[in-house]
Amino acid sequence: MRIAVVSLFPEMFGAVTEHGVTGRAVRQALVGISHSNPRDYTVDRHRTVDDRPYGGGPGMLMKIDPLQQAIAAAREQVRGEDGARPHVVYLSPQGRRFDHRRAVALAQKEALILVAGRYEGVDERLIEAEVDEELSIGDYVLTGGELAAMVVIDAVTRQLPGVLGHEASADEDSFANGLLDCPHYTRPEAYQGKVVPEVLLSGDHERIRRWRLKQALGRTRERRPDLLEGRAMTPEEEELLAE
Ligand code: ADE
Repeated sequence: MRIAVVSLFPEMFGAVTEHGVTGRAVRQALVGISHSNPRDYTVDRHRTVDDRPYGGGPGMLMKIDPLQQAIAAAREQVRGEDGARPHVVYLSPQGRRFDHRRAVALAQKEALILVAGRYEGVDERLIEAEVDEELSIGDYVLTGGELAAMVVIDAVTRQLPGVLGHEASADEDSFANGLLDCPHYTRPEAYQGKVVPEVLLSGDHERIRRWRLKQALGRTRERRPDLLEGRAMTPEEEELLAE
């Protein structure tokens, strides 16, 4: 997958391109991440990237021309032999909520452009002309779209084939089955007077599977009942929840 990031702060993205699982995916060329900086398309002495909003009020918007040209450059960066049209995402609190399903869907794209805004936002006509989808990572306001774009890069990259090893398949994720994850335990067997649940030491894989599913269901009902609302239950899940 090819991802181009449009941002005034490309250095921030070292957090995902240089470290951990996503850093390894970049080094293995399972994902390519390039940058396009609106600042590079300014023409004035001060390299101005912001502009005043019509109608007045506090705050500035991103200046149209440099941003439009940075998006055009990003389109070139991710142009591949497959001729796939890049999917352009603008990160903003006004977007639809980004979730596991969206991450899985975006992982199918050959080419992604993530536009990270700064200031109070972007001219609506530019969004209409250039953006396929506006996404929010949650109901709070960040000082810029960069962290949100990194959240998308991380969640999408770990869905790409070959990125996670067998030991941690994305299919077994929390959320892959619409539930929160069960609790996990590692050594020692007793820690601060608390012992690991007996079933996990039993070696009985079927009992362990049922215990984990029951824990996942219980936690989800307790902490995120909204996740259960639109979700059909299997007979086994009904039975475990009723126990
Ligand atoms: N930019 C600022 N806040 C944001 C949010 N919550 N999600 C995505 N982009 C943002």
